[in-house]
Amino acid sequence: MDFEHVDLKDPDLYLGGPPHELFARLRAEDPVHWNPESGGRGFWAVTKYEDIVAISKNPALFSSAREHGGHRMFDENVVGLASIGDANETEAPMISIDPPEHNRYRRMVSPGFSPSRLRALEARVRERVCAILDRLGDRRECEFVTEVAAELPIQVLAEFLGIPQQDRLKLFDWSNSMIAEDDPELRKSPAAVAADLQAMAEYSLRLWQERLANPGDDLVSMLAHSAIDGEKMSMERYLGTFLLLVVAGNETTRNSISGGLVTFAQYPDERRRLAADPAALSTAAAEIVRHVSPVMHMRRTALADTEIRGRKIRAGDKIILWYVSANRDEEIYRDPGRFDVTRAEAPSLGFGIGEHYCLGARLAELQLRVFFGEFLRRYPNAEPCGEIRRMRSNFISGIKHLPVRLC
Ligand code: HEM
Repeated sequence: MDFEHVDLKDPDLYLGGPPHELFARLRAEDPVHWNPESGGRGFWAVTKYEDIVAISKNPALFSSAREHGGHRMFDENVVGLASIGDANETEAPMISIDPPEHNRYRRMVSPGFSPSRLRALEARVRERVCAILDRLGDRRECEFVTEVAAELPIQVLAEFLGIPQQDRLKLFDWSNSMIAEDDPELRKSPAAVAADLQAMAEYSLRLWQERLANPGDDLVSMLAHSAIDGEKMSMERYLGTFLLLVVAGNETTRNSISGGLVTFAQYPDERRRLAADPAALSTAAAEIVRHVSPVMHMRRTALADTEIRGRKIRAGDKIILWYVSANRDEEIYRDPGRFDVTRAEAPSLGFGIGEHYCLGARLAELQLRVFFGEFLRRYPNAEPCGEIRRMRSNFISGIKHLPVRLC
């Protein structure tokens, strides 16, 4: 097939859901595909599982660092998104830093996501899920995204960070404005995004100062008092971390919950298997992330000339890792388009892999496991009952509007 007219950057391509057939053809015929970019320098589209694993595990050659462009399809060092204020004046968050500095940074934050902290959170997550579902009362229908899916991650984040629940809508609004640049309905003006960043910086600094004086057992207190090799976390680094956690933990989990609902409705047999064997909720949570791929890609930049599958990559070339494609690679997964709640062939790349593997993966899976355990018990036959409107984005596989029949 001729892929000359294919543009994986075009957000319209994703309006009906990820273009899985196109990705299947790319994997088969042009797995390291050159995608020219109007108004940009073009990128390599890498669509096979093994290639994405190899690239992700070689950060010395394939960089995430902001000074080389960062982790998004656009150049972060030019656009400056995901930073507080001007990209050149502030420190990048860990997702846009290479080792060895990345390891030091990550070690300051990762104790906040330890298995013991997550175990302690499980009962609270369950309470929140029940409260969100109790609010539906005996209604027959709901707008699932705003009333259900969006609430859980943002409430859990607020709890995790030690923020009063009434402030959660601020977090929600700020994080939405960071990833909606391609959706005319959601996108804000550059001035409004800058104002959001400023407001978020001021809010998170107030928290920092409060927790320095009066530490609690929340993540902000932990960051305010953390030190690695005698070095304390700087305020700039804390700001980047706060923003990253709020953005990374919100949209992604919300879209896994909404996408999971749609998927379960498409596979009633799998829903029944899960009802008969609730122990499968753990593999089901991982399978939702594989099947939905809420983060469709991340980006790297080659630091030296190299080759992938015989294609000559030049130093400075942009490389897009299409997780949404690798998660359906037929060389890795049997019948990859099928949703299978006990699937166990290989970890999905929905959370990435290697150096920058998602720090919140277990927290996200915990929410999915607890949520669907409770939701499907109450509404074993829930299904979409109207138009599903998707977000216009080549980055996040997102659902904006999802009317659901509760049955
Ligand atoms: C289903 C939900 C989620 C998905 C699909 C997801 C996806 C991802 C992916 C693909 C990466 C890899 C980035 C790369 O290699 O360049 C990543 C990194 C990251 N995620 Fe998640 N994420 C989710 C939930 C969360 C949550 C709940 C949090 C925290 C509250 C979180 C925090 C992070 C952080 C801090 C990183 C950067 C790690 C690093 O650079 O070392 N994520 N995520």
